[in-house]
Amino acid sequence: MRSTKTFTLGLLFAFSLVVIVLMATQLMSNTKKTTDQAPETPTENVPPSTDVAGIAHNPPSMDDVPEGPLGEAILRGYELTNDTSNVLRSEAATVEDGEARVNELSCTSCHAGAGLEEEVSSLVGMTAVYPMYIGRSGSIVTLEERINGCMVRSMDGEKFAEDDEDLDAMVAYFTYISEGIPVGAELPWRHQSNLDDMPIPSVADGEVLYQKSCIACHAGDGSGTGSNTGPKLWGKGSFNDGAGVARLSKMAGYIQNNMPIGAPNTLSDQEASDLSAYILSHDRPEFKNHAKDWPNGGRPSDLMTKELRQQLNDGTIDWDEVLGKNK
Ligand code: HEC
Ligand code: HEC
Repeated sequence: MRSTKTFTLGLLFAFSLVVIVLMATQLMSNTKKTTDQAPETPTENVPPSTDVAGIAHNPPSMDDVPEGPLGEAILRGYELTNDTSNVLRSEAATVEDGEARVNELSCTSCHAGAGLEEEVSSLVGMTAVYPMYIGRSGSIVTLEERINGCMVRSMDGEKFAEDDEDLDAMVAYFTYISEGIPVGAELPWRHQSNLDDMPIPSVADGEVLYQKSCIACHAGDGSGTGSNTGPKLWGKGSFNDGAGVARLSKMAGYIQNNMPIGAPNTLSDQEASDLSAYILSHDRPEFKNHAKDWPNGGRPSDLMTKELRQQLNDGTIDWDEVLGKNK
């Protein structure tokens, strides 16, 4: 009787041991699996609808542009995007017409490589996201209207007429580089250049840093070395004060993400803020239609208009107000 009991207990003990060992082995192999896989498939558990990794920045090569009229339009659109000022000015009737038509920049001055570079305000996928609502316009905006938005602000020039073949050519080019991107897709590379929580800038520190790190390409007086080698940053020929980068936070974000060329993401928030304020403290062409922007509210407080430039330069600017720190 007694020996049967001992035998049963012994059997139970042995069984439990086996179970424990089995469980531990299982656990260890699970842990290993997770650590092994984690770096390779970080979005493994994201459901397909929000799987941003599925949208690849992989525009077709310009070498594969088809022959024929469509191909010619795509190449013309590429040229217009990459060398905007030189192309449009050289084809204008007079020098004055050319200067009124467009400033000295090209789209590439801000959308690097004609909008093909993922890190610098890429324009890949635009035909998949436009038409869309834009708060600044207070309406649904087509891709043609968005291009014209940059023409009258960043390019401080004139709109393309609705029936201008050059506008069709640009749309043909953007359609070509957006190939394979489904309509309505969330593009992970959009809207990356914005320094959300800007430290209060020092224009004086910005000037010192500018003279050290930026003049090789943009010149000491901001006049630049060329639209695609070091675009003009202020004064006549640069973007006007209705442009996106005329906002302190966007300029600072752009600088931090992209400048100086060759060493992006090396400037601190404070340095990017100082440089942004220094660049935007200078005079530049004035946008004529400020009053019509943001008709439904939401006007940003950090757009460096003439009034704010004046306040910045005479030391009366209210940074808490401008940077939204008193909200
Ligand atoms: C001085 C800089 C600058 C220049 C030059 C410029 N852009 Fe832009 N562009 C911007 C900024 C800034 C934005 C807004 C990005 C954002 O909202 O974060 C923008 C936005 C756009 C958008 C919409 C992007 C989106 O994701 O919704 C299009 C399209 C566009 N630009 C086309 C052009 C074209 C075409 C040209 C040349 C004719 C041009 N841009 C020249 C700075 C510039
Ligand atoms: C090696 C040359 C080089 C240096 C140095 C450099 N840039 Fe640029 N910068 C460029 C080029 C080229 C572009 C056009 C866009 C591109 O190719 O990424 C550009 C574009 C810009 C733009 C947008 C275009 C415009 O007209 O507003 C700003 C702003 C800018 N740079 C600011 C700076 C600042 C600030 C520094 C110093 C921290 C700096 N850059 C240093 C070459 C340079």
